[in-house]
Amino acid sequence: MSAHRIPARFYAPLAIGAPEPLRERPVRLERMIHFVPPHIEKIRAKVPQLIAEVDVVLGNLEDAIPADAKADARAGFIALAEANDFGNTGLWVRINALESPWVLDDILEIVPAVGDRLDVIMLPKVEGPWDIHYLDRLLAQLEARHGIGRPILIHAILETAEGVNNVEAIAGASPRMHGMSLGPADLAASRAMKTTRVGGGHPAYGVLADPTPGSSQGTAPRAFVQQDLWHYTIARMVDACAAHGIKPFYGPFGDFSDPEGCEVQFRNAFLMGCAGAWSLHPSQVAIAKRVFSPEPGEVALAKRIVEAMPDGTGAVMIDGKMQDDATWKQAKVMLDLARLVAEKDPDLAAAYDLS
Ligand code: GLV
Ligand code: MG
Repeated sequence: MSAHRIPARFYAPLAIGAPEPLRERPVRLERMIHFVPPHIEKIRAKVPQLIAEVDVVLGNLEDAIPADAKADARAGFIALAEANDFGNTGLWVRINALESPWVLDDILEIVPAVGDRLDVIMLPKVEGPWDIHYLDRLLAQLEARHGIGRPILIHAILETAEGVNNVEAIAGASPRMHGMSLGPADLAASRAMKTTRVGGGHPAYGVLADPTPGSSQGTAPRAFVQQDLWHYTIARMVDACAAHGIKPFYGPFGDFSDPEGCEVQFRNAFLMGCAGAWSLHPSQVAIAKRVFSPEPGEVALAKRIVEAMPDGTGAVMIDGKMQDDATWKQAKVMLDLARLVAEKDPDLAAAYDLS
């Protein structure tokens, strides 16, 4: 028995009167998903300014919001969604986990009130496609009842061992899937990793170079190189997402006192195929912007490759390096992203010179 709908039914609405599921995901720049705690009025007051600075504003209702502030956070999110015009900046919400006592009210209050303004619901602690199917059907019913004209997309957090086991099925669970973020803090707990961090590396996780032949132990220092704890998971996530045409993201980096560590984690994710990362602190917005916008030098090279192979076939040499159909396609990925960035950022538009 297949766990999926048959192909011909995959794009059928899940409720009578719900909007048609999207066959292509909207093309949007989402370099940083900026988290705000919506129960804090002072922070809500800064949302108009944030809209101009970030690609996505996300109201966080889940972890980091105290139990006694859950209802205020939900009401605060509705208020900030109603009070602002988001233009082409995304409006997302992270609801509570499906087994929590808060999630049903999150969905049943937010979708009727501001579902027509909401781009994406971030769903935490997704364990398998069944979690996506549950929310998918419920959203279709609510969209139908409240006359919401376009489907609200779902973004899963990959933060349980079971979720990682099922990552491909989650990515392909529904046309409503927008993408996925690595949740390194919950994933560490779920896996019984022996860390106490939110993302990033660990100084003890690494590789020690072999002893120098002939030297006695302890005389010649042996190089120790820290390794990336998240490489394996990010690689699985990127492949699952790319195969299903959805977007992978790095999640949170919790050490705000280590901007360099944050930048390196974000850049590894970018180079491996991720579209963005979370910003939990205002200082991380600039880091994500820098990392997830291609470098002008790389864009210039991509332009030269595409210009040297106008129809994308054959092979040419540029600066001693072979280029062919495959590097042409890589160059195209870079140029498409640069075009998207240029629409939003006049400084980078000038640096990219894509006219
Ligand atoms: C994010 O939610 C995480 O657990 O890392
Ligand atoms: Mg989490």
